Amino acid sequence: MKVSVVARPAREIAVDLLALPVFQLPDKGWKLPTGAAALDRALSGALGAAIGSGDFRGKRGQAHLVYGGDDVAARRVLLVGLGEEEKLDGEALRQAAGQAVRSAAGRGGGKVAVLAPRSRRFPAPDVAQALAEGAVLGSYAFTRYQSEVKDKPASSCALLFDDARARTAAREGVRRGIAIAESQNVARDLSNEPGGDLPPAALAREAGRVARDVGLRCRVLGVPELKKRKMGGILAVGGGSSRPPRLIVLEHGRKAKSGKGRPTVCLVGKGITFDSGGISIKPSAAMDEMKHDMSGAAAVVGALRAAALLDLPLHVVGIIPSAENLPSATAYRPGDVVRTSAGTTIEVLNTDAEGRVVLSDALHYGRTEFQPVAMVDLATLTGACVIALGPWASGMMGNDDALAQRVKEAGEASGERVWQLPLWDEHREAIRSKVADIKNTGGREAGTITAAAFLSFFTEGTPWVHLDIAATGWTTKTNACQPLGATGVGVRLLVEFLRNFRSR
Ligand code: BES
Ligand code: MN
Ligand code: ZN
Repeated sequence: MKVSVVARPAREIAVDLLALPVFQLPDKGWKLPTGAAALDRALSGALGAAIGSGDFRGKRGQAHLVYGGDDVAARRVLLVGLGEEEKLDGEALRQAAGQAVRSAAGRGGGKVAVLAPRSRRFPAPDVAQALAEGAVLGSYAFTRYQSEVKDKPASSCALLFDDARARTAAREGVRRGIAIAESQNVARDLSNEPGGDLPPAALAREAGRVARDVGLRCRVLGVPELKKRKMGGILAVGGGSSRPPRLIVLEHGRKAKSGKGRPTVCLVGKGITFDSGGISIKPSAAMDEMKHDMSGAAAVVGALRAAALLDLPLHVVGIIPSAENLPSATAYRPGDVVRTSAGTTIEVLNTDAEGRVVLSDALHYGRTEFQPVAMVDLATLTGACVIALGPWASGMMGNDDALAQRVKEAGEASGERVWQLPLWDEHREAIRSKVADIKNTGGREAGTITAAAFLSFFTEGTPWVHLDIAATGWTTKTNACQPLGATGVGVRLLVEFLRNFRSR
């Protein structure tokens, strides 16, 4: 998807589909977007009629298609609702651009244009960023395994900005939006890939490919190195599969290259390429979805990719513990005690609580190798989080309220919301073991929080936030920017967080 900023009047732009985002007005009043009056005249008032008749009210998600005439260069004009102007946010803009691109995809693809709305609440670069994101996200489809692809996506999307000064600023926003959304699509591709075709070594290879493309440093630790570093957590979980585990490390903006003074931020992503539950095997229903159990890892790869493309003035380290959780003669067992690289021992009560076990070594590695000023992990960690928050927010917990606040704000600005749950000493007590230092399950009560409490033992002294993306990492609820499957959640949030990052 090619996205550009252009100056042509709406009536003159020769595209297969021209989208006009329209604000919803109170009562029956209506107003065409600035710049659309001449277009409406050329269409003999068809746009005004659609609005005036009440058929189209500008409600969020609403759309109305009108065919062009001899005096209009566009073949079709699509009115898309933005909702009330006072409630305008990035999501409404993304959905509007997504709708334009999607409706073209259902009609043979081709070229699309969107008339950028003017709003007091949104500066031009932010409007441009959100529209570009929507166009790129809306054109996403996971088609690798389809012999025949039915819906041809739109090939390009021109954003019409009539103000010359806004245009220059908008170009910057578009550049950012494309980098972010394409990185989110990279994350979606990784997460959608079947587990059978994406063992830890393949995930490492894909991360390395992304790193080469955008200029990240990539280092992969294999089994001998994991053994040398006594990473008993990753080795235990990976032990059940014939396809061995990896620890993947991606780096942007290393100090050596950029001089001193860049704060280091670690992003850690759970990379279980398939989670059968292991010896504590899962029921068959929906087990296929556990190919997505590396969605945290995918988000980290995507965020690092965007950090490089945007050349963020930070040292960002992505750390991905990757393993395949399978039952076999060499699998770890309930009752086993695992010794982690931190020295902390774990009593394994359930081999299906494997995410926290691999994360223990990764968090310790991040903390000790890089001494970050902040560490954020993303993990499809608990089914309990699906029940607690549903798909409307990722669960957030941590040991530093100021950091949590910044992640929360990034979540709201990016449209990838998080909701904080408490993490108290009592939760940490709930996972103490009588046999080892801690145990890998705390029972049914507050399962999302006791999982975070487990992680907190490996982050002591480092400002840290944990995001449970079990319910947000993939979806069956589709919309213009989101087909079924992986969401790529976390990429937009992390980039927004990093863009605003100032240490202290
Ligand atoms: N990957 C799962 C969590 C999960 C379940 C994510 C369903 C999305 C949908 C994780 O490894 C897991 O199995 N967690 C267990 C922990 C329990 C054994 C303490 C769970 O949530 O049931
Ligand atoms: Mn599991
Ligand atoms: Zn899992």
